[in-house]
Amino acid sequence: MRVLGIETSCDETAAAVVTKSGAVVSDVVHSQIALHAPFGGVVPELASRDHLRNIRPVIESALVGAKVTLADLDGIAVTCQPGLAGALLVGVQAALGLAWASGLPIVGVDHLIGHLLAVFLTREGEEERAPIEFPFIAMLASGGHTAIYRVDGVKPGEIRELGATRDDAAGEAFDKVAKLLGLGYPGGPIIDRLALEGDAKAIPMARPMPRRDSLEFSFSGLKTQVARYVEKHGQPADDPSLRDLCASFQRSVVDTLIRKAVRAAQIERVDTLVLAGGVAANRELREHATRAGKRHDLRVLLPSLKSCTDNAAMIAYAGMHRLAAGESDGAAIRMSTRTVLPRVTRKGRGRREPGGPR
Ligand code: KG4
Ligand code: ZN
Repeated sequence: MRVLGIETSCDETAAAVVTKSGAVVSDVVHSQIALHAPFGGVVPELASRDHLRNIRPVIESALVGAKVTLADLDGIAVTCQPGLAGALLVGVQAALGLAWASGLPIVGVDHLIGHLLAVFLTREGEEERAPIEFPFIAMLASGGHTAIYRVDGVKPGEIRELGATRDDAAGEAFDKVAKLLGLGYPGGPIIDRLALEGDAKAIPMARPMPRRDSLEFSFSGLKTQVARYVEKHGQPADDPSLRDLCASFQRSVVDTLIRKAVRAAQIERVDTLVLAGGVAANRELREHATRAGKRHDLRVLLPSLKSCTDNAAMIAYAGMHRLAAGESDGAAIRMSTRTVLPRVTRKGRGRREPGGPR
């Protein structure tokens, strides 16, 4: 079975062909980074127009790369939520057009479920690993979302949010801090690189939401701490103090994400921890997660770097299960800017109800 995946929820136009077992046959990602970089973040209208320009060549190149035509495929999976409305629309309309012309079944996929299942993808040249079994705890940290999930299966009803961020996502914090420091966009990979040469203990940074059993996050205060540091000491030039600041900020984010993910696994008595989302490409996060796994007797699974950041292979895989069961949404695909996964964490400040999320 081979499925074509299409992803246009934010600033990547992507298409991929994936087999039933999760083998990635082709994977094409056209990034809009250069387009949005001058603005320090994604400009929705520019994103939609760029998707429109690139969607056809990207899909064609995924088909050519997989040496298939539509007639060789068994279905199409397309991201239909959450994301920027105009951006989602481009991918969904393209997918619907292909499905109509070819008669292939088509299913809509939630982008977050794509990220959560990305760990099942296998790419050429990668070592084989033991099969992954449910349940697992997943720490999803991307530019738009940061949450911990208990994943008992591939269906939305089998995925439960245990806690999420009350304000900024972890990737958003990386991006905002980089913007503040005049480093460029997206901030994650730049800070990751600079932090490598810095001293993470040089500048004290609070650990946000430190309560031991809380599975909620708050990253906006961390960004404020960096802003205060800059106000007090001036914009660090390209020197060791910039590297120390990046390293100290990154250490605080990484420590917080890992500590809470491990705690979630302990509370849920689940012994597998999966990282997902763009921030899971972070070098220090990956190292710390692996070490924490050894210390706490957890099997830690890290998707390959290409599977962490936005891609269409994860969307193809997440849609595969419904297609394999003979399902199709046809023209009834529903788009939404929100995720299908119920939220337990309320955004914003203030007291929480007793019995709410930890
Ligand atoms: O999953 P993703 O590609 O798109 C969303 O669904 O948001 O995540 C993008 C986010 C950006 O905020 C980016 O700065 C962050 O992931 N990111 C990283 C790294 N690579 C990407 N953050 C920290 N370290 C990295 N190496
Ligand atoms: Zn994403």
